[in-house]
Amino acid sequence: MKYGYFDDQTREYVITNPRTPVKWINYVGTLGFGGFVDHTGGLLLCKGDPALNRITKYIPQLPGSQFKGQTLYLRKRSSRGTQIFSPLFVPTLDEYERFECRVGLGYTQFDTEFHGIRSQISVFVPKGESILVQEISVTNLGAEAVEIDAIPLLEYTHFDALKQFMNADWVPQTMMSEAHEDGAGRKILAQFAFMNRDQRQTYFTANVAASSFETDRRVFLGDNEYGTFQRPKSLENAELSNTLALRGDNVGALMLRLGSLAPGETKRFVTLLTQQEGTRVESLARARSLFEKYRHHEAVASARTAMGKDWDAYLGRVQVNTPDASMNSMLNVHNPRQCYMTKNWSRDLSLYQLGFGGRGIGFRDSSQDVMGVMSNMPEEARELIEKLLSVMKSNGSAMHQFYASTMVANEGDAREFEDRPKFYGDDHLWIVFAVCAYLKETGNLRFLDHVLPFYEKDKHGAPREQGTVLNHLQRAVEFTKSNVGRHGLPLLGFADWNDTVNLRTGAESLFVANQYGKALLDLIELFDFRGDHAQAERYRADYEHMRGLVNEYAWDGEWYVRYFDHDGSPIGSKKNAQGQIWTNGQSWPVISGFAPRERAERALDSVNRLLNTPNGIKLSGPGYDGFDPEKGGVTTYPPGAKENGGIFLHANPWVMIAETLVGNGDRAFEYYNQINPAAKNDVIDTYECEPYVYAQNILGNEHPQFGLARNSWLSGTASWVYQVATKYILGIMPGYAGLEIDPCIPKAWDGFSVRRQFRNADYVIEVTNPEHVSKGVQKLVVDGVPVAGNVIPAFDDGKTHTVQVTLGTQADAGEQAAQ
Ligand code: NOJ
Repeated sequence: MKYGYFDDQTREYVITNPRTPVKWINYVGTLGFGGFVDHTGGLLLCKGDPALNRITKYIPQLPGSQFKGQTLYLRKRSSRGTQIFSPLFVPTLDEYERFECRVGLGYTQFDTEFHGIRSQISVFVPKGESILVQEISVTNLGAEAVEIDAIPLLEYTHFDALKQFMNADWVPQTMMSEAHEDGAGRKILAQFAFMNRDQRQTYFTANVAASSFETDRRVFLGDNEYGTFQRPKSLENAELSNTLALRGDNVGALMLRLGSLAPGETKRFVTLLTQQEGTRVESLARARSLFEKYRHHEAVASARTAMGKDWDAYLGRVQVNTPDASMNSMLNVHNPRQCYMTKNWSRDLSLYQLGFGGRGIGFRDSSQDVMGVMSNMPEEARELIEKLLSVMKSNGSAMHQFYASTMVANEGDAREFEDRPKFYGDDHLWIVFAVCAYLKETGNLRFLDHVLPFYEKDKHGAPREQGTVLNHLQRAVEFTKSNVGRHGLPLLGFADWNDTVNLRTGAESLFVANQYGKALLDLIELFDFRGDHAQAERYRADYEHMRGLVNEYAWDGEWYVRYFDHDGSPIGSKKNAQGQIWTNGQSWPVISGFAPRERAERALDSVNRLLNTPNGIKLSGPGYDGFDPEKGGVTTYPPGAKENGGIFLHANPWVMIAETLVGNGDRAFEYYNQINPAAKNDVIDTYECEPYVYAQNILGNEHPQFGLARNSWLSGTASWVYQVATKYILGIMPGYAGLEIDPCIPKAWDGFSVRRQFRNADYVIEVTNPEHVSKGVQKLVVDGVPVAGNVIPAFDDGKTHTVQVTLGTQADAGEQAAQ
């Protein structure tokens, strides 16, 4: 554990060495107001759309040692002279006596010691508020009294994040700062771009007096910017210059003279950063009243406590206790936290997804993200589902992405090629899974009758057509049914889940064929449950039809083919020298139920033999070795990277699901374990990313840097690994009638327990495995009474129910007991 450790008591990951291979981050706030804090205090903050209203300038491409967005300097004066350093390590890079960055639930907390000064800094955004609160305490650990000045510093960006980097004349001409007195010597620094002067302004203050301030970067650094953030010239002077920047690169720095600290003495202060709408007068008044609230330490403490309670409620809905400590840690804290963040941020803003407006909210991504929070916040999931449904087109396909603040949607990368289809083969089908997951979690079938628009607008901007939720789902499968190619298989469109395989018009996707099969299964189950057996029957016929085609055309002998190109030639076949076998081509025929048992097992064995590595399952192999515009983006990567034979983690849990469906609990768990980021702590110099969240990709074994992870946090991996672990491995699956219990665990496990809220009741579920099997519920006892089958009724009575599950080979003893 070279850089840190998991503290399961406090539900934090603790970084103890700041020289991590790449920055490790944590999210604060929400898309409404928030962003991320890195483990050396760097800050990327936005209000609303990260492309259109960004507040701090954070440039991820700069080296780790560089100032990014914000820092705090301390100036210590003692009989031994003056030391200027950052308690956050960056950007002054002084040697530390102790470094602790606690990555918590919605907050990051630093506890460091430099030059005999202990600093504790907690950073968070109180729930529902547009304010970043940082509470800082400074303690003199030395034997003599010292004088301490604290200088918090922010660097602003132009609100239009991309323009900041594209126009080095217009942007600096527009940036300006003001300073206001706030009583008792406190100062409020204001910053805005000229065109926003009368609309919205950013305000920064501290709850203690500031003897001076700085708003001009050039003056702060000094020497025409040959001063550096590591050694700013201005900090050599007793006071900052009180310059009001009327152009240029704007910063906000306050000189907070904390005074003399006796040995052991602690001084505390709070810094506050907000942005408010209105004229300068209106917004300043709003900022002042928010500052008035949070300048009191009690208010800060109670906001932290309230936030903690919210996380308790969110996480408390599902808690597990398995024989695997790192699985527990991931499932009880870190994995659902990541699911929360992916649901909130989609793929918009991270260290790797830079939020310049190219992405927004992805239809496919968010439809999967909502499933990751379904057990813990189903109603918030539904709100996002409604937005997604309203960017579906009336033909049943979906707009590829949209912007949350405007609900303006577009066709994503499909717009780049005139001659290619403008739809993605898979997008619209994901929403069927998301809605059915919501219905099962909540039992709220009335949602199906809720009327929502389709995306097309008339000339007044009003929706041209609307339909019920159920109608949206039916149009989704209808779209796939009526857009098929020469084999009768679904058309790929611009791409399917794999964005990077962009084939000529007419290509067919086996991924979509299987996804369609699974969507039909979900709808068949739904219609049967509603008693509409005639409609269920029609879908059953569609399902059988597609199953026939998949098995007739796509079986390649040892595995299934992944695509048919526009000319009918297979991709993902032993006939291909590269891109011979694809993971999704094998997992999804099992998930759809299309693969007969023998083919399912053989396909999954082929994945194990040809694509599995100790770092995870590769997406395909062998990788394409050279750019080929006929294949598309996949060939822009060298073999082993990303979709070109890399370990694309999002696809791994689908193989785990498939393995549980064929009853192979040992293999499912082996696959789970080998990508568990918590297990990477020991190989972290190879892996590099945060060990407390899943990354999107790991370089595969065709690449010289096999094992290197990138694109952490905002990945569909979070949702699917959480789902596979809770619903398929631990096997607690919400159903229309109740909780279905069907674990598929490693044989070596003696059992496990889960506490889960489901609808309006609590279930304490104990699973024992005396015969050391992987699968098979032998006995189910609910509140002391044997129950036939493996479904716990949805009690909905606000009470706690105990459930004992015994696994074993003998068929359904529970049923016998009940008879
Ligand atoms: C990243 C995208 O966010 C996701 O939607 C896609 O499925 C993968 N790339 C695979 O190409």
